[in-house]
Amino acid sequence: MRVVNTVADLRTALSEARLDGASIGFVPTMGFLHAGHASLMEVSVAANAVTVVSIYVNPLQFGAHEDLASYPTDRAGDLRTCEAAGVDLVFAPEAEEMHTADMSTTVAVGGVSSPLEGASRPSHFAGVATIVAKLFSIVGPCRAYFGAKDWQQTQVVARMTIDLSLPVEVFACPIIREPDGLAMSSRNIYLTTDERAQATVLRQALLVGVELVESGETDATRVESAMRDTINTASLAEIDYVAAVPAQTLVVDGPLDGDVRLLVAVRFGKARLIDNAGCRTIET
Ligand code: PAF
Repeated sequence: MRVVNTVADLRTALSEARLDGASIGFVPTMGFLHAGHASLMEVSVAANAVTVVSIYVNPLQFGAHEDLASYPTDRAGDLRTCEAAGVDLVFAPEAEEMHTADMSTTVAVGGVSSPLEGASRPSHFAGVATIVAKLFSIVGPCRAYFGAKDWQQTQVVARMTIDLSLPVEVFACPIIREPDGLAMSSRNIYLTTDERAQATVLRQALLVGVELVESGETDATRVESAMRDTINTASLAEIDYVAAVPAQTLVVDGPLDGDVRLLVAVRFGKARLIDNAGCRTIET
């Protein structure tokens, strides 16, 4: 496995693979890698001749009062995870390599960027779309793999690749969970012991919502209310949003019908956790 820090070195490292027409799989990350990231790498390694992982904490996607300065890092552990997953190339640029002082371009995806995370974190998805577009341009992958835990992000990236005709196939891979159901996240490290114990309510609330939708409930408000009641059993939980929405548009327009995504964002102290689950309304 090679580790490169500059765009020029990455392009040189990939030039032979590109000339040979080899398929390039790409897993963009912000580091502090866990089993969820490893699962994306393994899918890519199995499907592509070359797998590239980027490790870059992207300042553009953090709001002014968010955790950019304290975002956890573990470079040695990250490289061990990549090596064990069979990754060929790690791209780990410094901020100056990615953002010159006069950088003036932003990629803003409308529609699906607006609700939920977009409403809570107004500049977040423009930051994500800008860096992902830039990484796609640098790496030139055939396929890119994202975790479905960030469901809305996968929809934003998918929309961007369609709208900009980017030649990349985008995959949303299954959420990897701890044995008690908590979705794996780099931010779980912020949880205290008590918060960690209570954080399992996110998964429980999603299961309550899935059960309701799959037994015929099509009123989003009633599904959301049952999910809220479950989350509110945790005394340390502070709900940001709870949503039962159409899986692709993420905007409710009448009764739920077809593929539904249930999404939650909940604060436990310093940690803001998100999770989601898919389900389908029953045919009538
Ligand atoms: O999901 C993430 O870790 C980030 O949003 C991504 C896709 C690496 C862009 O910085």
